[in-house]
Amino acid sequence: MSRDDPEKAGTTAASAPTINPAALAYVKAGPKQLYIDGKWTAAKSGETFDVIDPSTADVMVAVATGDAADIDLAVAAARKAFRDPSWARISPHQRSRYLLTIADIIERNADELAVIQAIDIGMVLAQSRGLIATMPDVFRYFAGAATKVMGSTYPSDGSSLTYTLREPLGVVGAIIPWNSPAFAFAWKVAPALACGNTVVLKPAEQAPLLPLRLAELIEEADLPPGVLNIVPGLGAGAGDALAKHPGVNKINFTGSTGVGKGILAASTGNLKKVTLELGGKSPNIIFPDADLSKAIPAALMGFAAGAGQICVAGTRIFVHEDVYGEVAAAIAQAAQGMKTGNPLDPGTDVGPIISQKQFDRVSDYIKVGQDEGATLRTGGQAHAGSGYFVQPTVFEDVTDQMRIVREEIFGPVAALIPFKDENDAVFRANDTEFGLAAAVWTKDISRAHTVARALEAGTVWINTIYELDVMVPYGGYKMSGIGRELGPESIEANTQLKTVVARF
Ligand code: NAI
Ligand code: MG
Repeated sequence: MSRDDPEKAGTTAASAPTINPAALAYVKAGPKQLYIDGKWTAAKSGETFDVIDPSTADVMVAVATGDAADIDLAVAAARKAFRDPSWARISPHQRSRYLLTIADIIERNADELAVIQAIDIGMVLAQSRGLIATMPDVFRYFAGAATKVMGSTYPSDGSSLTYTLREPLGVVGAIIPWNSPAFAFAWKVAPALACGNTVVLKPAEQAPLLPLRLAELIEEADLPPGVLNIVPGLGAGAGDALAKHPGVNKINFTGSTGVGKGILAASTGNLKKVTLELGGKSPNIIFPDADLSKAIPAALMGFAAGAGQICVAGTRIFVHEDVYGEVAAAIAQAAQGMKTGNPLDPGTDVGPIISQKQFDRVSDYIKVGQDEGATLRTGGQAHAGSGYFVQPTVFEDVTDQMRIVREEIFGPVAALIPFKDENDAVFRANDTEFGLAAAVWTKDISRAHTVARALEAGTVWINTIYELDVMVPYGGYKMSGIGRELGPESIEANTQLKTVVARF
């Protein structure tokens, strides 16, 4: 399908709504530049990289390849902006107004942004719209938080006063992945700005378009130059330079556990603060008394939504042996019925994998699973033709030691695992180096909370999945991360305390 002919999109052409023309024009208009100190510029090196449409494997547009030299400029601009009175001395109300304006801009342009993200990361348009729709609330929550960043007064004798000031850290470097740029952008930029920091954000090289378009649109908010900088580039180039940079006070990273370890190592140069949101292998536990009419579709979406490229994906589905046969059959059948295809086609259930590299990785895991002796219940095949499509895939007869049960695959691939009782389920659910999220399905209120408490995960869902809200903290246990984003915790994570002791 051609992006030029949205009315011909897919099989439901007659009823298909028009695809946002501004978005279609944006994804082709290039080469796209870096956004540094309030200006759009080419990379110092003059280099660009190609952004690939994962639905077709075609090149969409070229983007400037930011490198260490560009990161230097961006960090210098952000440092200058951090100290400039136009940012450093404004009232919290003014910072709040900036964030409210950004929220309004995003809301007004939500349709365009959702289409850009859908094309860029291959996310089904309805899901992309859902993610974009959460962004204004994130900016509004932190607009409110900006006026509530508080210190305390402490006990002291009659001729002294001791208090704390909660102050910004300085320059926050945000390094984000391709799988959820809307979340990553809002979750990292909004709290950093609310607390008075300035930001240098490096989008993922596979999907830089949404952050770049956001920066363009946000210009209307008139932030002082250098407060928000966007430097696309490669991980080993711009990403590494930002992580190592002595002028950066904090790195807020989302991505793979391996790169997260590297970021932590790079932070030792100037002991910058680090928040890491890393991988997962989340368990989804279905007890025999669960409402299966809800648990089964949730289990399916839990590993197939976003083509499985979701950090909290419930890729280990534990099902009590009394209902295992029924649940396995229903999940397998539904997975088989899911339609892979272009994310802009309203009939599509599952979009493509982001890149050839990730497609090869997911395909390789499907082969590994079979080689290890697991049974392929459904799926396993790649889509014929162009684009990186994988049919939702379900394995059975797995052991707890298989790689497909232990490693994050980041594709629509799940393992179905029968269990005997509560202890068995909890023990095996926790038998992983990850601890990002977990879900438990049961009508027994005691069991629900007992199991929630026993699970080693940063977020536990009871009779639901995927519910994240800016009001509540989010982050990982074990090797799924360090620190928390969102909620009041993100104010702490974007500030530092100064103790002031006055004697008079
Ligand atoms: P990645 O961790 O390499 O990429 C995430 C971000 O880090 C990108 O912006 C990238 O450019 C940057 N980066 C890469 N190397 C860097 C370095 N040395 N220094 C600084 N920044 C660097 O993830 P990738 O390669 O895109 O995906 C590989 C696997 O990682 C996936 O298959 C998945 O298992 C996992 N992953 C998990 C995510 C999650 O949210 N849990 C998100 C993205 C990837
Ligand atoms: Mg990588």
